[in-house]
Amino acid sequence: MCGIVGYAGHRQAVPILLRALKDLEYRGYDSAGIAVLDGDSLSITKRQGKIANLESAINATASGTVGIGHTRWATHGRPSDQNAHPHVSCDERVVVIHNGIVENYAPLREALGARGHVFRSETDTETVAHLLEEEMRAGADLFEALRRTAQRIEGSQAVVAMSLDEPGVLAAARLGNAGGVVIGFGDGEMVVASDLAAVLPITQDVAFLSDGQVARVTPKGAEVRTVSGEPVPLQRKRVPIDPVTALKGQYPHFMLKEIHEQPEALADTIWSLATLEPPALYFDDLGPAADRLPDVDRVILIGMGTSLHAAMLGQRYIEAFARVPASVDNGSEFRYRDPVVDERTLVVSVSQSGETVDVLEAMAVARAAGAVQVTVCNTEGAQTTRVADGTVYTRAGLERGVASTKCFSSAVVALYLFALRLAQAKGRISQSELAAHLGELAQLPRAVADVIANRERYRRVAARLAQAQHALFLGRGLAHPVAMEGALKLKEISYIHAEGYAAGEMKHGPIALIEPAFPTVAIATQHALRAKMVSNIEQIQARGGPVIGVVSEGDEELTALCDEVITVPRVSSWLEPVVSVVPLQLVAYDVAVHRGCDVDQPRNLAKTVTVE
Ligand code: M6R
Repeated sequence: MCGIVGYAGHRQAVPILLRALKDLEYRGYDSAGIAVLDGDSLSITKRQGKIANLESAINATASGTVGIGHTRWATHGRPSDQNAHPHVSCDERVVVIHNGIVENYAPLREALGARGHVFRSETDTETVAHLLEEEMRAGADLFEALRRTAQRIEGSQAVVAMSLDEPGVLAAARLGNAGGVVIGFGDGEMVVASDLAAVLPITQDVAFLSDGQVARVTPKGAEVRTVSGEPVPLQRKRVPIDPVTALKGQYPHFMLKEIHEQPEALADTIWSLATLEPPALYFDDLGPAADRLPDVDRVILIGMGTSLHAAMLGQRYIEAFARVPASVDNGSEFRYRDPVVDERTLVVSVSQSGETVDVLEAMAVARAAGAVQVTVCNTEGAQTTRVADGTVYTRAGLERGVASTKCFSSAVVALYLFALRLAQAKGRISQSELAAHLGELAQLPRAVADVIANRERYRRVAARLAQAQHALFLGRGLAHPVAMEGALKLKEISYIHAEGYAAGEMKHGPIALIEPAFPTVAIATQHALRAKMVSNIEQIQARGGPVIGVVSEGDEELTALCDEVITVPRVSSWLEPVVSVVPLQLVAYDVAVHRGCDVDQPRNLAKTVTVE
């Protein structure tokens, strides 16, 4: 979950690294640090807290054209200056940044201590610096030292190191699924980082390290080997992400900007996968998965957090359109429950980043069982796209806010279209049905734009929710995942305790919580289930609980019944989740701002979760 970046080139490294760290800060913000090399001098600055603390502490005269930087999400050792990366070896000639966990750090630390190494921090990372020092003392250069060290450390991780003995060289390794390593090829300058956000301001010409690979990076280029020493030809590609999407522009927060980008993001996702005239689907990145779809007899969708909620909707779409039995699971549960999977099982992983370790480990289980795998991902070249047989790219653009918004709605429409594609492969959909679905989808970006334009109307709801300590979100059918997502948005950025439930569950326990200070958000846009939602709302009100309804435009009865309402445009019932979730995102945002919370960097969280 930490952000790591290294630079080797012809420009001063400090401003480049600081800028890159700001682009990576969403990955963790417990502490940050930078090390730069200038001939035979090494200068390190690190501070607890956000990049701003590092920036004010950094010595303006620290110069050097090679350096590394780190922003930390603490795993081993509390957030402090001392535990901040980079970490150095005893002789202070080797310096290391790290993302992931050295699982055998305890025995390594003990053994290194017995051989005279002195530890300055409580981190697992520091073992890597001392191991590199030992390998270099034994005669290895930095690259070789990291390759050998990679064989001594266990667990999933990414490392970047540099040494006073080889100024101008960075060594980087990717071991397991704890985090990506992207190498960027600039003009006489190279960058290596945990993700594209830090590379794109310098270059769009990139290569990704795979699990078990080590790279030697100099201003002139990169050489890659496997941990066991075989050379690996680098596959460079030009990534099409526009760096402008990484800027906040007129918006005070990335989250608000990304909520507003949804109409365009949805249109980009829809029309990258389909055309209306003629009605057709284009899944160009399905690769070998395409040929296996007709034989699929079961689908399991996996994801975590917001992506799990998108997967829950995907499950409903797949069962409805393709009539293939589908289930949904957290990646973290799927991995350990010895699931029943075979070559006719289709595993659909959903991950905005494509780097979530719980999802990647679940994919490894599915792969071992011979399943066909498709990943729904927003990040070009991410690890899930390299593990899966085929990819469905969402085209939402870079998402920076820790709270996922546009990537949720884009994943939902990508799954909707993929369900239609599977239905085609199974011979379960006619051309006229496809045309009808696509016609409805074509209306969606406009409907979402209308929801956003009505933002002022939701402010009263936000003001009311901001006073609450707890809130319940209820929905039936396709509104159930929306309820879960609405609750997640509220709790993760405003710290109000919120739970999302299937509305039918309410009377089996949660109803005991209902009282005047406990608001319920009832998503009542699913017309087939509307009467049942009306009953649930009446049951809550009979016990003195206030109800905020999310209702379709023109639903006078529900508007009169609820204490507050959010009205959303009428769209096809399959697409209602997308129009209902947007006001819940806006309300969560306004509540968080009202309560003075750090919207884009909520406490304890990180955008990409690369530890189990
Ligand atoms: O990158 P992923 O989609 O795999 O991330 C999964 C979750 O960590 C993520 O959706 C998380 O729940 C969101 N930040 C919540 O808004």
